Amino acid sequence: MSLGFLKSFLRNPSNIGAIWPSGPFLAEEMVRASDLQAASSVVELGPGSGAFTGHILANLRSGAHFAAIEKCPILAKEVSGKFPDARIIQGCATRLSDHLSSENFPRPNAILSGLPWAIFDANLQTSILNEVHGTLEEGGIFSTFAYYGPHRLASGQRFRKNLERTFTHVRRNPVVMRNFPPAFVYTCKR
Ligand SMILES: C[S@@+](CC[C@H](N)C(=O)[O-])C[C@H]1O[C@@H](n2cnc3c(N)ncnc32)[C@H](O)[C@@H]1O
Repeated sequence: MSLGFLKSFLRNPSNIGAIWPSGPFLAEEMVRASDLQAASSVVELGPGSGAFTGHILANLRSGAHFAAIEKCPILAKEVSGKFPDARIIQGCATRLSDHLSSENFPRPNAILSGLPWAIFDANLQTSILNEVHGTLEEGGIFSTFAYYGPHRLASGQRFRKNLERTFTHVRRNPVVMRNFPPAFVYTCKR
């Protein structure tokens, strides 16, 4: 874990929502589920210290556009330092479309999220999911993960219902046991 991740968690646990960054097996599953080879414009939400970012960049197809939006200034700086050629925007996912249009970024056909949905209230979840849906190109893919176990709690069920209300197709992928904690990816199609 990076010092930046730990510092940001201690300062603002309600933004980070995890005590530990995701591991490489979950990162690979996020990339696989997002069909990045078919995407010309890719956005990551909540990169944190960059647990998914390197895997996304390594799997982008040639010429594809990439941007990541991170709310925490410390982590935005850290991830920019790790991936100096990537476009890292310090901002909030609730303003996704504004951020992308002010950067003249092409409409994404893949959005990958590391956001801590379980700690967001229903209004914040809905407002970000609407932003994602409205920004994503027709036929585009949104992927995000949930921890296995807590997904059965009321907040996890509420999130799944919210996904199903927003997207036409929602698929739950197999559990990645080699992650701490075990987690699975939801793939949603607009
Ligand atoms: C659980 S961490 C995940 C980091 C990394 N993707 C991973 O899986 O290890 C959640 C990240 O989302 C960021 N975040 C929380 N709310 C956000 C928002 N509204 N907009 C953008 N980023 C946000 C946090 O600052 C944090 O870096």
